[in-house]
Amino acid sequence: MSRQPRPVRVALGERSYDIHIAAGALDHAGALLRPHLRGKALVVADATVARLHGGRLAAALAAAGIAATVATFPAGEPSKTVATAETMWRACAEARIGRDDAVIGFGGGVSGDLAGFVAACWMRGVAFAQIPTTLLAMVDSSVGGKTGVNSAAGKNLVGAFKQPVAVVIDPALVASMDRREYRAGLAEVLKYGVINDPAFLAWQEAHAEALEAGEPAAVAHAVAESCRIKAWYVGEDETEQGVRAHLNYGHTFGHALERHTGYRTYLHGEAVGIGMRMAAVLAGRLGLLDDDGLARRQDALLARYRLPAEHAGSPTTVPALVAACGLDKKVAGGRMRFVLPRRTGTVETVAVDDAEAVAAAFAAAIRA
Ligand code: GLY
Repeated sequence: MSRQPRPVRVALGERSYDIHIAAGALDHAGALLRPHLRGKALVVADATVARLHGGRLAAALAAAGIAATVATFPAGEPSKTVATAETMWRACAEARIGRDDAVIGFGGGVSGDLAGFVAACWMRGVAFAQIPTTLLAMVDSSVGGKTGVNSAAGKNLVGAFKQPVAVVIDPALVASMDRREYRAGLAEVLKYGVINDPAFLAWQEAHAEALEAGEPAAVAHAVAESCRIKAWYVGEDETEQGVRAHLNYGHTFGHALERHTGYRTYLHGEAVGIGMRMAAVLAGRLGLLDDDGLARRQDALLARYRLPAEHAGSPTTVPALVAACGLDKKVAGGRMRFVLPRRTGTVETVAVDDAEAVAAAFAAAIRA
């Protein structure tokens, strides 16, 4: 492992934990997790990640004396169900995972969310650790304890807050990612600069091409800064009663677009990128956004990260999206909460009932 930088701390009192970030950290995962695990572990991984990186993780855990069993499921969002969780609970039973043992989530957001939910419920809660392998999971879903599965009622509506005992991030693993999926993760990296940290936004402007190309030092820095910022929000507001909701910048618009396109057209980060553009337009329309160039800088970085800038729709797309938000004329007094930028590095949650402004924001990034 290259020089071990100081871990990022998530400060949650007795449930505080470290995020270890270093190229090569996967080979030291056992040593890094050993102080936090009392017994054996069930590794929950999708089949692709297990095939690509499972051997290295198994060797690292064995070298630290951690007995581990790997339980796999088919890669992809359709696996994020209570049925897959049930399969994993059966694997817990077969591996005799008890109160002193642990579940390790290994892979992208689906593995982490599923493994955390499995850990939160098995024996009413066993220890849980996260080893994310995708950029999105490294900078977002592996940190902060949101876990769960999708259900007929909707995405992520069934779940638990289950903080890990530690997170081990090897940013070098992004080299094996699908390029489009990697770029989609960059939308969340951009988000942190926009909502919280003008210096990080300026760093991204100076390193956008290196980051888009996956240059290791740039990726490691971006992951560490993103985790530092996310850790602050989680430490302030673990269960999203207030400021943590700012992490949902771009997500209200993005989720509407994902739902509208049946989750088939966009990766999550791509929809969030388009949603961030829409959020900046809405803030401008409502007179909330200082004229400090934020919208232009955000657009420029989205382009440099080669993320889609607009959705190809039809004349009915905007009204359908506004209606999906509950803001059309048929819904009297409809209001929707959006996270909107005030200036670079500052956002706030705003209740909006101005359907025309929301329509204009959608329209700004929809080509009919
Ligand atoms: N992904 C947003 C959050 O963890 O709060």
